[in-house]
Amino acid sequence: MLSHATRTELAALVGLACRAPSVHNTQPWLWRVDGSDEHPVVEVYADTSRRLPATDPAGRNLLVSCGAALHHLRVGAAAHGWVPTVDRLPDVRRGDLLARVSLQRGEVSTTAARDLAAIAARVTDRRRFTSWPVPDSRVEHLAATGSREGATVVPLLDLARRHRTDLLFLRARAQQTGDRRLHEEQRSWVDHGARDGVPAALVPAGGGSRFEDAPPVEDGVEHTDGVLVVGTAHDAPLDHLRAGEALSAVWLHATTDRLSVVPLSQVVEVPETRAALRHEVLDGALHPQLVVRIGWQEIARSTLPRTPRRDVDDVLLG
Ligand SMILES: Cc1cc2nc3c(=O)[nH]c(=O)nc-3n(C[C@H](O)[C@H](O)[C@H](O)COP(=O)(O)O)c2cc1C
Repeated sequence: MLSHATRTELAALVGLACRAPSVHNTQPWLWRVDGSDEHPVVEVYADTSRRLPATDPAGRNLLVSCGAALHHLRVGAAAHGWVPTVDRLPDVRRGDLLARVSLQRGEVSTTAARDLAAIAARVTDRRRFTSWPVPDSRVEHLAATGSREGATVVPLLDLARRHRTDLLFLRARAQQTGDRRLHEEQRSWVDHGARDGVPAALVPAGGGSRFEDAPPVEDGVEHTDGVLVVGTAHDAPLDHLRAGEALSAVWLHATTDRLSVVPLSQVVEVPETRAALRHEVLDGALHPQLVVRIGWQEIARSTLPRTPRRDVDDVLLG
């Protein structure tokens, strides 16, 4: 049995995990806290009622989002003196049970203050990056950070592969442009509610009906941006979860380095461009799960409104 105090502490950790990024801010996760005060357990479940049928029919982005939340939970727990042990997809009969995280009391992580600050500060800022180039060494370092999370994060440093990715992005966007069902779904997540979706204020002017069409990518990826592809050797739910953990690791690290991160999922949402990205950019070796742009924002930029989150009570299973 969990005491009231431990339950409250775990609910606070779940609150931190829920700061994670998710596709269209759908927050497609549910949580259960269990176990005892000495050995508490936090489980994360997929909330499949929040899958996007038009944008994400296979539920890949949903699992990537849950993976990001799982990584946030691990980092948040370690920062509060817990040692997390993660069992991913522990029950074959319950596909929606994505991970069981067992916690043991330990030392507060040495990077606790920095990690908690990164979770609090991390946002998707779609405004145009400055033209300051992101040094290759930074892009490589972020890729290595993500690659420690069970996915392979590939830095696209050579112009030919970047240009190819750029063209695939434009092709994916052109294909999605004519899809009314998709556009309606995406529009419905702008100002969706007080606790989810993307506030209209964050939709870039001229971004069209897809709020995730940020102006910087209207003509493709700027040559000064850093570009990463999060890939996995296989394409099963476990891989999607691990891709999300890698995304979160990259993003929190980048936030600490004051770099801005914007995921570009369209190219992996369209089957044809996803296959082309796999074969023409990743040499057939990896399944691409997400493309990510990295850049510097203006130092004197205004603060953006934050995307809302569901209350912890609404995502905690009884
Ligand atoms: C799997 C995944 C895919 C995403 N795809 C895009 C995208 O294509 N374009 C974009 O601008 N943002 C994208 N995002 C960012 C989300 O829209 C963002 O995380 C969400 O609105 C919450 O806002 P926040 O990151 O500021 O907390 C994606 C996020 C995730 C986790």
